[in-house]
Amino acid sequence: MMFFNESKGFPKDFLWGSASAAYQIEGAYLEDGKGMSNWDQFVRIPGKTFQGTTGDKAVDFYHHYKEDIALMAEMGLKTYRFSVSWPRILPDGNGKVNEAGLQFYDNVINELLKYDIEPMVTIYHWDMPQALEDQYHGWESRRIVDDFVNYANVLFRRYGDRVKYWITMNEQNVFTSMGFLSGKHPPGKVDDRKTFYQANHHANMAHAKSVIALKKLFPDAKVGASFAYSPSYAYDRKPENAMAKADFDDLENYFWMDVYAYGRYPRSAMQFLDSRGWAPEMKAGDEAVLKEAAGLIDFMGVNYYQSSVVEYNPPDGVGTTYAMNNTGKKGTAKIQGFPGLYKRPQNEFLPTTDWDWTIDPMGIRMCCREITSRYDLPIVISENGLGAFDQLEDGKVHDPYRIAYLKAHIEELKKACDDGCRVIAYCTWSYTDLLSWLNGYQKRYGFIYVDRDEDENSGTLNRYKKDSFEWYKQVISSNGEKL
Ligand code: BG6
Repeated sequence: MMFFNESKGFPKDFLWGSASAAYQIEGAYLEDGKGMSNWDQFVRIPGKTFQGTTGDKAVDFYHHYKEDIALMAEMGLKTYRFSVSWPRILPDGNGKVNEAGLQFYDNVINELLKYDIEPMVTIYHWDMPQALEDQYHGWESRRIVDDFVNYANVLFRRYGDRVKYWITMNEQNVFTSMGFLSGKHPPGKVDDRKTFYQANHHANMAHAKSVIALKKLFPDAKVGASFAYSPSYAYDRKPENAMAKADFDDLENYFWMDVYAYGRYPRSAMQFLDSRGWAPEMKAGDEAVLKEAAGLIDFMGVNYYQSSVVEYNPPDGVGTTYAMNNTGKKGTAKIQGFPGLYKRPQNEFLPTTDWDWTIDPMGIRMCCREITSRYDLPIVISENGLGAFDQLEDGKVHDPYRIAYLKAHIEELKKACDDGCRVIAYCTWSYTDLLSWLNGYQKRYGFIYVDRDEDENSGTLNRYKKDSFEWYKQVISSNGEKL
């Protein structure tokens, strides 16, 4: 393992941040002209979310943004990553622009800038206008590409004078695989690989064309996509497990990152998909567009939560419709895989969270090293954090486990900087507590506790600083030296 007798520490202008997503915090789901999103609809299907939770009210950021941003300022946050709700801006997806929606994000951006907090805007964090699902099945149709670019352009024109950092897509690998393979996200399709790869290709084109559009309007803007990166370890030294790792990397990691960084799909992955009849249909000129955008991106966005162990999976082995742990009862998740290629057993060398997510701080350094070797791009860690049960007692939340988790990851990130990786930002997930898509409100991630639970009418929505709040404040003021 490379080691350095002296650490150079984090770069001087490092962006210490925190992140969120519109659906998970805003609430006000029908206020001021907002249209329905696919998630507004999906959560209403019985059994889809933990105890039927919705983002109808969420943590009501829509009405609490000033209070929340004041807390960010008190902490000294350098950047805040948040997403825009597409149906708040374009209630019908592609029709009239909703001025009240635009105004809301104007207010948020201006409030952040008032405190010198750099806004980092995610264009798409999974809440698509339901109208587009109704019109042409959303990502399944190529028509979404133009509608997405039109939406992105509305944002660029309105906010581009004040927003420098843009993230086109949040975890494209997650929303497409959960939407078309495991059925756990909208549109809830199961094992539909052909559609999965096609929808994903449309998302790639939407990403690429909006990158190009942004750079035309604002050449100095900084843009990338946020990828849910799970670096992989082969189960053991058996060659078939090493090959399973290579398959996993091509089909689960490089399949997205190569497109963002090189503008092409990994060759072996495409050969394989072709042989099964699953390869996406591409139009003449698509590759040129992907390549042009690849030449324009400024960073690789990484959402890092856990690493993967990869083992060969026989053709009759486990598939994608696995049981997830959405209750917080340790040990209830079942492993998942791609029959005939690989599966992902637990790593017995590492602890797990109550939701069975592997805790592997070194994995964040691994992500940075791999991206640096393969793409040599700057890196924005756009999410990293611990989902845990928190207890509010006498207005206090003691969360030493969260501090320990973040500390260990930041220590490894610092090593990545020493390794020469150009890490420019680190955003924890999340700032306030928020709705976890499938896990309700009991799986908490924030520095700020929000008083509410699964019951829509529960709690005061009052905000309370957890112990981790003061801790991260000193991390920021010492530029990562006091951990
Ligand atoms: C990422 C998403 O996948 O992980 C977030 O970008 C999400 O939106 C976060 O909330 C944590 O996942 P979960 O399932 O614990 O809420």
